[in-house]
Amino acid sequence: MEATDTVSRSVVNVTVTGAGGNIAYSLLWRIASGDVFGPGQKVNLSLLEIPSAVRVAEGVAMELADSAFPLLNSVTVTDDPRRGFDGANAAFLVGAKPRGKGESRKDLLTANGRIFTEQGSALNDAAADDIRVLVVGNPANTNAYIAAKAARDIPAERFNAMMRLDHNRAASQLAAKLGAAVGDIDGLVVWGNHSDTQFPDIEYLRVAGEQATGRVDRAWYVDEFIPRVAQRGAEIISVRGSSSAASAASAAVDHMRDWVQGTGGRWTTVARASTGEYGVDEGLVFGFPTVGINGRWAVVEGLDLTEFQRSRINANVEALREEAAVADSLF
Ligand code: NAD
Ligand code: LMR
Repeated sequence: MEATDTVSRSVVNVTVTGAGGNIAYSLLWRIASGDVFGPGQKVNLSLLEIPSAVRVAEGVAMELADSAFPLLNSVTVTDDPRRGFDGANAAFLVGAKPRGKGESRKDLLTANGRIFTEQGSALNDAAADDIRVLVVGNPANTNAYIAAKAARDIPAERFNAMMRLDHNRAASQLAAKLGAAVGDIDGLVVWGNHSDTQFPDIEYLRVAGEQATGRVDRAWYVDEFIPRVAQRGAEIISVRGSSSAASAASAAVDHMRDWVQGTGGRWTTVARASTGEYGVDEGLVFGFPTVGINGRWAVVEGLDLTEFQRSRINANVEALREEAAVADSLF
């Protein structure tokens, strides 16, 4: 029988980087209230910030204390990555610069990439053996690739990049179009990179258990749905004036909860190091159709791909190869 890898300890140690920032201001409250690790699981929170924002993180810690969460065992604040990741069972790597109007996520690679060499190496030295790392900071896939590479002794599968926000956006758009409940949408995947090339794929779509691809107008799917989902981050920046925060935190909660507690057979999108599935270069952190079972992810394998799917997937492989070449120069 496959070994399980679930959380079942008296207190789980959780590190959140960028703890003084916008996403963390929503994420920390969801973790502390039990939305990720379950209603009976106590948590120790470790807030990691850069020196100039430690004071902000201290204010956040004060507000967490004022929220009197029964499951919140302790909160610590630090600007030292090794201290911040000491004994961590789960880490949300949020701390990084967000893009502004007119920038692409990969423009952030040089500015943010170095954060992840340092943090990957600190995780390697300090985290617990069962560490689960979710990289949120952009460009998320390549930052996860960098952190995994810097953490030489931690299996690469323990580093994920967040594409759950793309998945949730796609599910929400489809539910609205089909007049369905979002909870009835399944068989959805967003292949590839958390970038404009991402491929939200409805080839295997089910609604309330029934195959539903034929219910979606093809022109709407190709010309409106795919670009809308892929460019939703930029749309939020343009309308809200800053990058998505509460929806990103919510997606991070969904991702880590499903990693720990499973998906009950439902598909989700997880970006993690390819082991060659669907011809994707080994090591590239790629969004795949995935289910969570017994505390582990399993890529849904054996799907037949059309030419259309293959070309969209290949565009993401190409983009991630280019980002990986830049990332490799940081080592
Ligand atoms: P923000 O600017 O509000 O907060 C970022 C925080 O990170 C700041 O407080 C900053 O001081 C801190 N930080 C910077 N370098 C750090 C380091 N080395 N260690 C610890 N903390 C550090 O930004 P935000 O809105 O919270 O967004 C954070 C990141 O998440 C951005 O890169 C953004 O693009 C990305 N993001 C990703 C997704 C996704 O779907 N993957 C969605 C939304 C946002
Ligand atoms: C998002 O998808 O909302 C984030 O990655 C922020 C961005 O830069 O688009």
